[in-house]
Amino acid sequence: MIKFSLPVLAMACAFALSACSSNTEGGAAGAAEAAHTTSSAGLPVGNAQAGHDIATKGAQGVAACASCHGADGNAPIDGMYPKIGGQYADYLGHSLQAYRNGTRAGATADVMGAQAKGLNDQQIADLAAYFASVPRQLRDLQNVN
Ligand code: HEC
Repeated sequence: MIKFSLPVLAMACAFALSACSSNTEGGAAGAAEAAHTTSSAGLPVGNAQAGHDIATKGAQGVAACASCHGADGNAPIDGMYPKIGGQYADYLGHSLQAYRNGTRAGATADVMGAQAKGLNDQQIADLAAYFASVPRQLRDLQNVN
């Protein structure tokens, strides 16, 4: 992904107004804001509160995430369920998209595939925002015992 700093964006807008005008009438500010409205997974902006609701109560055709991943995604009911609390939002969003479209598949992944099939892009973004916002208990391999 190409990243531009704000001053560079502002200059780009000054020199190429037509390129920026499609974002909003806000010029450089609009372009900068637009850069924040999508993640690398191409998802809309997530709402952590809406994600919390799905995580704890489930949604149409989707079980509560907490029923396997535990409270805040940090208390899995069994070792086959990973901790997901505090994971990067982009990673969460991308994983859920991959489960949904079947590119992340396999014996255990298909358990998640069944969950993700019922999620739309907004719900995936909301869940990613929520789980990214909770305390992190992820460990690197050096801390595995
Ligand atoms: C029926 C149990 C179950 C439920 C309910 C469930 N999951 Fe999972 N989840 C799993 C399993 C099993 C895996 C490991 C899959 C694999 O091997 O890729 C997993 C993996 C994941 C991963 C990948 C983690 C990583 O480190 O790569 C994410 C993200 C995830 N789940 C999010 C969710 C969300 C969000 C919900 C609620 C919408 C949810 N899960 C509901 C069982 C479940």
